[in-house]
Amino acid sequence: MRTQVGIVGAGPAGLVLSHLLHLQGIESVVLESHRRDYVEQRIRAGVLEQGTVDLLVESGVGDRLKQEGLVHHGIELRFEGTGHRIDLTELTGGKSITIYAQHEVVKDVIDARLAANGQILFNAEALSLRDIDGNPSIYFKYKGVTQELACDFIAGCDGFHGICRPVIPSSVLRVHERIYPFAWLGILAQVPPASDELIYTYHERGFALLSMRSPEISRLYLQCSPEEDIVNWSDDRIWDELRLRMATRDRWVLKDGPVLQKGITPMRSFVAQPMQFGKLFILGDAAHIVPPTGAKGLNLAVSDVRVLTRALVDFYKTGKKEALERYSETCSRRIWKVQRFSWWMTSMLHRFQNEDSFSHNIHLAELDYVTSSRAAATSLAENYVGLPFD
Ligand code: FAD
Ligand code: PHB
Repeated sequence: MRTQVGIVGAGPAGLVLSHLLHLQGIESVVLESHRRDYVEQRIRAGVLEQGTVDLLVESGVGDRLKQEGLVHHGIELRFEGTGHRIDLTELTGGKSITIYAQHEVVKDVIDARLAANGQILFNAEALSLRDIDGNPSIYFKYKGVTQELACDFIAGCDGFHGICRPVIPSSVLRVHERIYPFAWLGILAQVPPASDELIYTYHERGFALLSMRSPEISRLYLQCSPEEDIVNWSDDRIWDELRLRMATRDRWVLKDGPVLQKGITPMRSFVAQPMQFGKLFILGDAAHIVPPTGAKGLNLAVSDVRVLTRALVDFYKTGKKEALERYSETCSRRIWKVQRFSWWMTSMLHRFQNEDSFSHNIHLAELDYVTSSRAAATSLAENYVGLPFD
């Protein structure tokens, strides 16, 4: 089997890359180790930056997103029992974010690829990469048989635990990492969201977040210990803890409902550089992880896709390799700014181990500053809706 770009992974990065390349007349094959229904149902991100929405709409996969996505113009920061609205749209000259689940984006792009006779092989696990400096190929297992996909370039879109990043020699690859002493316990619940906008709460007992997926479905998170066992968290205990942390002086009401799904996610910041070696390029979670407090992971994956697509188009249309050679460097500036923002939001809103009254007051002072200074609120808003691409 042969193609121009061999893509490992059918998450947002691999799928959107395959779709954008197709629109430019560049062929690709996507190999995905899981079943189609698994990747179409996996509950992950929910917040799309303005630039991500624009890219999906302009590339023809935004119809359902436009119909069903919830456009939000602000978020709330809540602390000491009081909510403070950050008016994203007013502070950024008209930008907004859209709530639309990652797995819905995945469904829309899979539909578009298959409708255009695109090749996505599900249940196809990439086992190894060969000759990434010369004539690259991907060995993969499909229907019990090991096969070879020969290609001009390999795009490693196989997430944090994938096989592509480790192919970059350790003498070349630098890893920058921060592991946080907490995790998020997330639930999906069948109850209308208790607020029209997302609420990020700082409390002495830890962070809490109210988000949503639709007018009927809420998504809520609680900061917990990374060692926490989900079996210790009954639905009632989760709702009680959410009510405690999110309580307001004016007696805000959080109604509960059936919990449809729950899980614990560890938090880390991670960047691997360079994001290329020979003819291998890594994108999205394969190259970097952000803690979810800034709602950036999927959006950052899409911005890598944008850079690589442009570079590949340049190469196939003009033979020029400069943009490909600069891929990692071009991505790096945005990645570090998004890392900084995600780390900052996380640090401001979470309780670290052994925090004393000094650090508690620093959290409160920072939140007070961000919600009362137009300059500070503007900085948060422009990062939250998404920094410009170039
Ligand atoms: P993935 O989505 O991880 O896709 C990688 C794919 O590669 C997978 O389908 C995997 O099965 C496949 N694969 C792996 N190894 C192989 C192999 N050997 N062969 C073949 N296939 C392979 N981001 C946001 O932007 N906004 C948010 O609000 C947000 N909230 C989040 C909340 C939670 C609880 C979590 C966990 C994440 C959140 N994120 C958020 C992050 C976001 O979900 C990820 O950044 C995003 O999924 C990255 O996409 P990706 O395509 O790079 O990787
Ligand atoms: C979500 O809806 O899953 C979500 C929203 C905001 C975040 C993280 C996750 O910061």
